[in-house]
Amino acid sequence: RTEPEPHRPQLHYTPAKNWMNDPNGLVWHDGEYHLFYQYNPEGDGWGNMSWGHAVSTDLLHWQELDVALPADDAEFVFSGCVVVDEHNTAGFGDFALVAVYTSSYPGTGIQAQSLAYSTDRGRTWTKYAGNPVLDIGSGEFRDPKVFWHEPDGHWVMAVVEALARKVVLYGSENLKSWTRLSDFGPAGATGGAWEVPDLFPLPVDGDPQNTKWVLTVSLNPGGVAGGSGTQYFIGDFDGVTFTADNLTSGSQDCSWVDYGRDFYAAVSWNNVPGGERIWIGWMNNWADAAHVPTAPWRGAQSLPRTLALRSLGGAIRLVQQPVKAVRTLRCGAASTLRDHEVGPGRTTLPVRGAVLEIAAEFELGTAERFGLTVRGGTAGEGTLVGYDTRSGELFVDRSSSGATGFSPGFAGRHGGPLPAVRGRTRFTAYIDRSSVEVFGDRGQTVVTDLIFPAPASQGLGLFAEGGTVTLRSLEVWHLS
Ligand code: FRU
Repeated sequence: RTEPEPHRPQLHYTPAKNWMNDPNGLVWHDGEYHLFYQYNPEGDGWGNMSWGHAVSTDLLHWQELDVALPADDAEFVFSGCVVVDEHNTAGFGDFALVAVYTSSYPGTGIQAQSLAYSTDRGRTWTKYAGNPVLDIGSGEFRDPKVFWHEPDGHWVMAVVEALARKVVLYGSENLKSWTRLSDFGPAGATGGAWEVPDLFPLPVDGDPQNTKWVLTVSLNPGGVAGGSGTQYFIGDFDGVTFTADNLTSGSQDCSWVDYGRDFYAAVSWNNVPGGERIWIGWMNNWADAAHVPTAPWRGAQSLPRTLALRSLGGAIRLVQQPVKAVRTLRCGAASTLRDHEVGPGRTTLPVRGAVLEIAAEFELGTAERFGLTVRGGTAGEGTLVGYDTRSGELFVDRSSSGATGFSPGFAGRHGGPLPAVRGRTRFTAYIDRSSVEVFGDRGQTVVTDLIFPAPASQGLGLFAEGGTVTLRSLEVWHLS
């Protein structure tokens, strides 16, 4: 039997058909996580931008619903957010869901911020008759993320002036009239248009007395792995102004959320019970997205990830781990291997699979590079998930991962710094039918890359180059 959709992810959200890009309107409400997303109801390329919609109770099993906010001739519905208007500040009803999105008007080229609301748990939506609610006459003004700022008792919107490389903050009492508060940028990586900002507080090392604010912003191009990517700043927010602790400039010194090529436009859920900060990103890159070899769908979201701030080597860093519920997808017990010497070359393990969780810990030896080969097949097909001791980097090398020629910059190796600790390095990789997400040392360095291997390429192995390394422990689960 040939599988009609061999690259359809099993762990990741994809619409049944057609094009998807950014996650939008992430909100928990009345027992459901909502995932809206940039969607083309008419085809598998970008266009007719509308908000597609899915709901889940566990962030892993999604039910696709009707298109929530459709495009029309006069308006494309670009990225934005949803808030729960508990106290009816906007007048659409107590606990109304209010979408704050970018209207992109093809007729004029203007981008402005608009509202839509739902009083039936997000099933049907009404665009506000007074749209747009925030228009500065710009063609590059988009992607509002709104949250309720408790200390000041008002709404705060982070939105980009994309070509100016600015995140602009606005305040409002009622979601309808907005006052400019401050702006941030240019700073950090500025090699492309700034898009899809988010701003949220997190405790440092879990200490509720020590809260810092995180500003994330995607940019296209200018990402760390080429094409689009996502950076972050850590600092303070006083209700008006975000002030970064260490202002960097240039893509070398800035902080990247993910060192792979396929994690973009990430935004976090509003209103998660218990206050956890969970986000998801479009698992793709604007440089390749139009060409990825999938049908009848095109575009997947990443695993949902829990965010935290951790002190590491004197600095505060944003760390990410897949939501704990991912463990519920494990089938049976892990296959394990301990204290195994890996010589130069490649060896095959007795475990195979296309959808796996793999936790590995290595003790560094003389090997310059070492790690795992995943989705291995014939003729040398395989993706390397490894560590480079010379550069101190965790990396994914998808040069021989299967189909790579559909987009010029697709093949290659992507990685980020991960210091070895007491001579050891560890990471957990989530392998799906068309992706690899690697979380180094409890999520301090993350690498997300798409891959398009042959369906039969399900081999798992070990490799070492230039010497030996000791695999201290390996645990492999099949995920359902
Ligand atoms: C980011 C982005 C946003 C925009 C949307 C359009 O990927 O370009 O800035 O709102 O996609 O689909």
